[in-house]
Amino acid sequence: MTKESTLVLIKPDGVKRRLSGEILKRLEQKGLNLKGLKILHLTREKAEKHYEVHKDKPFFKDLVSYITSGPIIAILAEGNNAISVVRNLVGATDGSKANPGTIRGDYSISIDKNIIHASDSEESYKHEFPIFFSASEIIPVEYGDEKLF
Ligand code: CMP
Repeated sequence: MTKESTLVLIKPDGVKRRLSGEILKRLEQKGLNLKGLKILHLTREKAEKHYEVHKDKPFFKDLVSYITSGPIIAILAEGNNAISVVRNLVGATDGSKANPGTIRGDYSISIDKNIIHASDSEESYKHEFPIFFSASEIIPVEYGDEKLF
């Protein structure tokens, strides 16, 4: 077992379309532990930091405008191989190409309004986590139900 943490964002389109409950349900049903959860309106400064790796891409400006356009939900999920497990639940970046059964495959048909973001590596997680959470906002206790999954 390799216990990992990952940062998940339900983007403005996901929140506006009332998909937050469905997404939390999928994370929980898979067996991930939700250790941090908040709704927030991201500042431009934090959005630019979060998407820093894309700063030279032609879509960077639109990406930052979009993620700051409305409320988002930030989630810290933990579990066995959580980074790859959540990426698989999320599906391919472009919703029009994502497999049915994945979150983007079921609810998105574009690359920009693609509902959800999830850390793609340990390095990304370490960059992203402090943008959204302080250590005191994370539930420190274990769920203690790992054997059920
Ligand atoms: P996300 O997982 O949040 O990480 C970076 C985001 O950039 C990605 O989801 C897409 O929404 C967006 N993105 C990636 N490639 C493109 C592109 N070619 N055009 C527009 N947006 C893109």
